[in-house]
Amino acid sequence: MFSELIRKNRTKRIFNGTSVSFDLLEELIEDCRFSASTYNRQSIRYILINNDRICSDIFKITNLPSTHKVPIQNKPGAFVVMVVDREINLPESFLYYNLGIATANLTLSAASKGYSCATLLSTNFEKLSKILSLSKEKRAVSIIAVGMSDQKVLTTDIKEGDTSYYKEGTTHVVPKLTVESLIYRKI
Ligand SMILES: Cc1cc2nc3c(=O)[nH]c(=O)nc-3n(C[C@H](O)[C@H](O)[C@H](O)COP(=O)(O)O)c2cc1C
Repeated sequence: MFSELIRKNRTKRIFNGTSVSFDLLEELIEDCRFSASTYNRQSIRYILINNDRICSDIFKITNLPSTHKVPIQNKPGAFVVMVVDREINLPESFLYYNLGIATANLTLSAASKGYSCATLLSTNFEKLSKILSLSKEKRAVSIIAVGMSDQKVLTTDIKEGDTSYYKEGTTHVVPKLTVESLIYRKI
């Protein structure tokens, strides 16, 4: 069951216009709050956004419309922005480890409920802070799009070579290295 969920949890970039409630977003945080974190500091805070106008403003500063040519009507129903204190006093490697764990748990939780996500680090975080009127004490460090998607996404097994994702008709294909390729050594 876990293996199925992890395979289902693909990045989707084209959403179908379904709205995302705060109740659903809070359920994601309910799963996320059990994430491991360095020294159990739990430094990440979450801004939940489903306001249509603000979602449009945020969508425009992600790379979904520019790189991926996603039309505005296919924007995500919600965004979750992760913020931390500017004076966090934690090495960046620890912070990004913690963000990775929280992101995995949040997106897996969404996938288990039939929603899809895209982590969008190629976002203009300076503009994002302005859109959110973020206080000077906080730093926005990650953003995840959440919504319902009809986009077809498949994975394909590869042993080596180009791992770039590509299109096959309307299907988005994501090459994944095989177990054999991933295991560097057995001792
Ligand atoms: C830290 C991180 C940042 C990412 N940033 C972006 C991004 O800015 N824009 C985007 O379209 N996808 C982004 N992605 C999604 C990756 O492109 C995606 O995970 C990869 O193509 C593999 O697809 P999969 O998630 O379905 O396995 C990001 C993923 C991660 C883990």
